[in-house]
Amino acid sequence: TFVVTENCIKCKYTDCVEVCPVDCFHEGPNFLVIDPDECIDCSLCEPECPINAIVAEEDMKPEDEPYLALNAELSLLWPVITIQKDPPADAKEWENKEDKLQFLER
Ligand code: SF4
Ligand code: F3S
Repeated sequence: TFVVTENCIKCKYTDCVEVCPVDCFHEGPNFLVIDPDECIDCSLCEPECPINAIVAEEDMKPEDEPYLALNAELSLLWPVITIQKDPPADAKEWENKEDKLQFLER
């Protein structure tokens, strides 16, 4: 499966959602997740993210590990998103910031 990781938090550019052939992105207040039970590993979304927040499970770094469970958990709670929308006004300022997990809203 592909996994949305920390860099998406507070950036949420949503370029990724329109290319997914199985509509498996789910949207929370300031983060997106991929439903691992729906993802068919097509890899189309990975290059769409302008800040490289989407990674293949097998390419995850140790710091990405918590996001595997978070994608699975939150995709059950959040609605599907298939249409790109405007990112948060301050998205640019949050690109590549460290320790963003504390800001994840549920
Ligand atoms: Fe959707 Fe393909 Fe990305 Fe999986 S890898 S989330 S199926 S676009
Ligand atoms: Fe997040 Fe990148 Fe998609 S910032 S919403 S994973 S385009």
